[in-house]
Amino acid sequence: MKKVPVIIDCDPGHDDAVMLMLAVGSGLFDIKAITTSAGNQTQEKTLKNALRLKTLLAIDTPIYKGSDKPLFRNLIIADQVHGEMGMDGPILPEPVITPESLSAIEAIAKILTESSEKITIVPTGPLTNIATFLLAYPHLKPRIERISMMGGGAFRGNMTPTAEFNIYVDPEAAAIVFQSGVPITMCGLDVTHKALVFQEDIERFRSIGNRTGQVIAELMDFFSIFYRKERPELDGGAALHDPCAIAWLIDPSMFQSKACYVDVEVTGKLTAGTTVVDFFDVLKKTPNAEVVYDIDREKYIQLIYDSVLGLP
Ligand code: RIB
Ligand code: CA
Repeated sequence: MKKVPVIIDCDPGHDDAVMLMLAVGSGLFDIKAITTSAGNQTQEKTLKNALRLKTLLAIDTPIYKGSDKPLFRNLIIADQVHGEMGMDGPILPEPVITPESLSAIEAIAKILTESSEKITIVPTGPLTNIATFLLAYPHLKPRIERISMMGGGAFRGNMTPTAEFNIYVDPEAAAIVFQSGVPITMCGLDVTHKALVFQEDIERFRSIGNRTGQVIAELMDFFSIFYRKERPELDGGAALHDPCAIAWLIDPSMFQSKACYVDVEVTGKLTAGTTVVDFFDVLKKTPNAEVVYDIDREKYIQLIYDSVLGLP
């Protein structure tokens, strides 16, 4: 089966790490590049974590450093969830490899320019790099197959009552992406709060017996601390947000979604960073995003488990 060419833009990040394990372990993607965004932790730390994961997964995918901060705002990080290192829990050695010399947006432009086929972009952190690329290289938009992202939400937030973290960190960037005209799949909190990993799933990962199985289990042990304390409504589960953006590309039939018009609030005193999703089409505007809102959780966890089986 022909591999899907993708560029992954992420802020590892516990769930970003699992997303990369799924993307690599599924064997279904030709990962042209991994670019790093500032979000869960600073750019310096997310970049280092991406290099650690490159080593762990024994891949030769080039890694490119992205922006240190949002387009106009100061950076807000999520160390309350991801810890001081940004991927706390497992002991992962300091990376001995280095990122490429090109910047993230130069790399995206080079890959899209040189590719004979359209490329799917998978952002799972704040959208700063993607927005910057779209502003700098608008002529390359037609070479993007789709943007399959983790971000936003139709009916809830996790940074404010209505804003999800990836959008909240850089609302202006998110607005640029949603208004770009590029086909979008939006895996927001509506679906990711159903994409839950429970302790019995974590123990299954740990029992696989390879190093990646041990690392994903220790990542989820740490990641679950926040969710068990701060999200009791999730019954002990942790929301495995980011792998949804890859899993939808693998098998959209395990999800439910609806084509909706989506825009981003950038000025609201209470609502800045909110994805305003016209779920009931009251505005009669042309939909610009496939908004994902439900998932077959068992199938999702099994997909991740099967991917980890084949990893180092
Ligand atoms: O709100 C969840 C999102 O914010 C996920 O992408 C997580 O990794 C953090 O970046
Ligand atoms: Ca992320």
